[in-house]
Amino acid sequence: MITVPYFNFNKTFRSFQLKNGKESIANDEKLLASDSIKNANIKISNLNVTIKDNHILKNISLEIPDKKITCIIGPSGCGKSTLLKTINRLIDDVPNVKIDGSIYVDDEDIYGKKVEITHIRKKLGLLSQRPTPLPMSIFDNVAFGCRIHGTKNKKALQKIVEQNLINAGLWEEVKDRLHTSASDLSIGQQQRLCLARGLAVGPQFILGDEATSALDPISSQHIENMFVKLKERYGIILVTHTLRQALRIADNVVFVYLGEVIETGSADKVFNNPEHELTRQYLSGVFS
Ligand SMILES: Nc1ncnc2c1ncn2[C@@H]1O[C@H](COP(=O)(O)OP(=O)(O)OP(=O)(O)O)[C@@H](O)[C@H]1O
Ligand SMILES: [Mg+2]
Repeated sequence: MITVPYFNFNKTFRSFQLKNGKESIANDEKLLASDSIKNANIKISNLNVTIKDNHILKNISLEIPDKKITCIIGPSGCGKSTLLKTINRLIDDVPNVKIDGSIYVDDEDIYGKKVEITHIRKKLGLLSQRPTPLPMSIFDNVAFGCRIHGTKNKKALQKIVEQNLINAGLWEEVKDRLHTSASDLSIGQQQRLCLARGLAVGPQFILGDEATSALDPISSQHIENMFVKLKERYGIILVTHTLRQALRIADNVVFVYLGEVIETGSADKVFNNPEHELTRQYLSGVFS
């Protein structure tokens, strides 16, 4: 019997046992309990991003801890989304982009020559502003990534789908209609489904770019609560326009202005005792 990584991109994630060439789920308990990552940490050093001739991110050095919620705040156009996209290499899809500096995740240089982009994007799952369910059933949405990576075992898929819907706070609402179309869900439910789909492929970090801004207040609150629960197991980085949201859930805050990190630190420090005058002005609404 040989044990192989369930997903080749995540050394600490689940494993299946191969017996006579067939998958079995002998490792069931471990399979569902082992998705916690130890010591994951993002280290950004001297990062500069230029698109065409536009210098968008300027000499950013930043550490983002695991198992905390880090909120990135700053006025529109300051580079928050670009920073998030650079952290999970979605920026690679942008034409004429030039990236200097380094980003290490868990001691892995994510811009290293041998790194696979798909591996990085799974490790740092991005939840965008609007939910993007695939045109298929609720079950198939969550199972999608696992199937692509070769999991065919029906029982294993069922467990993965159930566990990740539980983790995303959606299970109770959909357990009796798993095989109906995901597009029938409300927008807030669709966003939690996308969260479940991202969790199912075993990320270390969850990145949210205004992930609640298209949702009604109750759905938004629901997703916020999920983030607070999920930080026990994942590092979470959220770009938010809503200072009240950052106040409610951030452990750490990064304030970006015109492509530069002006100030970073614990939410308590940045909100209650900011060091920089620009931070003070932004927080008090002098500009937005
Ligand atoms: N693909 C692109 N091509 C050219 N310029 C871009 C591109 N993407 C972003 N930019 C520019 O980079 C700057 C930062 O954009 P970004 O989307 O990161 O800002 P943001 O802080 O997320 O703003 P918002 O709060 O409005 O979402 C802007 O001036 C924007 O026009
Ligand atoms: Mg943005």
